[in-house]
Amino acid sequence: MRIDVLTLFPEYLAPLELSLIGKARRDGLVDLRVHQLRDWTHDRHRTVDDTPLGGGAGMVMKPEPWAEAFAAVRAAGRAELGEDAEPLIVFPNPAGTPFRQATAQEWSGREWIVFACGRYEGIDERVYEHLADEGFEVALASLGDYVLNGGEVAVLAITEAVVRLVPGVVGNAESLVEESHSAGLLEYPLYTRPAAWTDPSGTLREAPAILLSGDHARIAAWRREQSEARTAARRPDLLAPPATPADGA
Ligand code: ADE
Repeated sequence: MRIDVLTLFPEYLAPLELSLIGKARRDGLVDLRVHQLRDWTHDRHRTVDDTPLGGGAGMVMKPEPWAEAFAAVRAAGRAELGEDAEPLIVFPNPAGTPFRQATAQEWSGREWIVFACGRYEGIDERVYEHLADEGFEVALASLGDYVLNGGEVAVLAITEAVVRLVPGVVGNAESLVEESHSAGLLEYPLYTRPAAWTDPSGTLREAPAILLSGDHARIAAWRREQSEARTAARRPDLLAPPATPADGA
């Protein structure tokens, strides 16, 4: 998989050199390139923003550097992946579609993703129109209902969620099957040795006996119940059917 990131803060993406994702890069499973958006400006101050037309607070990202950057990154990627290669362009954006495990699953099968990190109040709307006219596939992805200072933290999170699902990145692929959100439920509670543990206050805490029974069918049923109970308590929204207009929502 190839990933390009366009950002004003390339250093923000340094954690992607560490741990599992860093190893995936060194192993050649992911080719990740981080680009400075200001490299596609032409004035002395390397300007990427200006005041909003119509007035208002803050600054808006100018369209020209983005259009040049996308054209350059598309050409460079195609030179390596082939002339027919098409990236999915992802704009992290609090006004985007919620990014979920199912999204990570889908994107993990992509050949090429370009992340475009906005800053300030946002990006000139004509950038999106231009990309659509150029035939790019574009997605706006939100991490959650809160506002970050820019797209970089979202790119760290999305990249980690996506790349760990790329075959070969996580050594034990089975560990991806039972984790939270993989089947629409939260994961069941986990225990390890010692089965009987006396905590620092002197309280004896024993792991559920069923986990020591060796009865795999009963253990699986118990874990399923735990997952459902936990999901009902913490995330009832995951169990509720989506509201429809007929519900008056
Ligand atoms: N950029 C700013 N806030 C964000 C959010 N919640 N999700 C994704 N990108 C963002």
